[in-house]
Amino acid sequence: MKRVKKAIIPAAGLGTRFLPATKAMPKEMLPIIDRPTIDYIVEEAKRSGIEDIIIVTGKGKRAIEDHFDKNIELEDNLIKKGKHALLEKIQPSSNVEIHYIRQKEPRGLGNAVWCARKFIGDEPFAVLLGDDIVRAETPGIKQLIMQFEKLDSSIIGVQEIPIEETERYGIVESDKKQGRLHSVKKLVEKPKMEAAPSTLAIMGRYVLTPAIFDLLENQVPGAGGEIQLTDAINRLNELEQVYAYQLEGNRYDVGDKMGFLRTTVDFALENSEFSGQVEQMLRELLEKYHSREVVR
Ligand code: G1P
Repeated sequence: MKRVKKAIIPAAGLGTRFLPATKAMPKEMLPIIDRPTIDYIVEEAKRSGIEDIIIVTGKGKRAIEDHFDKNIELEDNLIKKGKHALLEKIQPSSNVEIHYIRQKEPRGLGNAVWCARKFIGDEPFAVLLGDDIVRAETPGIKQLIMQFEKLDSSIIGVQEIPIEETERYGIVESDKKQGRLHSVKKLVEKPKMEAAPSTLAIMGRYVLTPAIFDLLENQVPGAGGEIQLTDAINRLNELEQVYAYQLEGNRYDVGDKMGFLRTTVDFALENSEFSGQVEQMLRELLEKYHSREVVR
């Protein structure tokens, strides 16, 4: 069996949910406290033993490349000022190599993954979506890689969601279940609540066999008029069994404003740098907010 050494991070989306912030800045660069969201995704891949990452970018995404590049001027400046802790934070990692390819037109997630086919070649690979941050003892994608090593089949990370949210996710219909592992019967991209076969939602983590590329090549547009990865995986499931694995750990949705705000507050509460100050701040803000309500 071939090892999973390469990962694709699609980052070509337009970020319309965060406009105007994302008019001139990639949404993947929006920071949770002091780190861009894409940094958390790269870190997860690194901690999972991935050696090469290809980021699929698009128009206006240069800041991502600059972020992962060496910045000699800045490094010199920090060295001169003796700011060694900061220096460590901005130096590119040596354990993982990052490569880039541009998606020419925004044609959907399936097309973005297909753009990386030549880089991946004939190997199984991981896909990590930037809208989901997974925090777990064993990193999210590592959990899937470990399952892949047992099954030698494509596998998708899922979690249970409330029924009224099915329209935001790819939903999995399961055939058989053993512990956290399901064999997939069918996948549906963003079904309405009434049409959803379950509440098991795809969480933006996949390990796929390269057979997916031929399917993506002629995949017709699906939900939202876009070429959907979910639809191609559904067809892959007719050729070889696809599995779903209920990921352990907390998942943070940074793909919409409310989820982003919640993640920021949650990460701030856990951050030892702030030691209790965030709780205090939240209490003060709530008090101020409530007293204003009374005045009104
Ligand atoms: C994508 C996938 C969807 C998945 C979701 C997870 O949708 O198409 O199947 O459930 O990511 O975040 P998007 O949120 O990019 O529309």
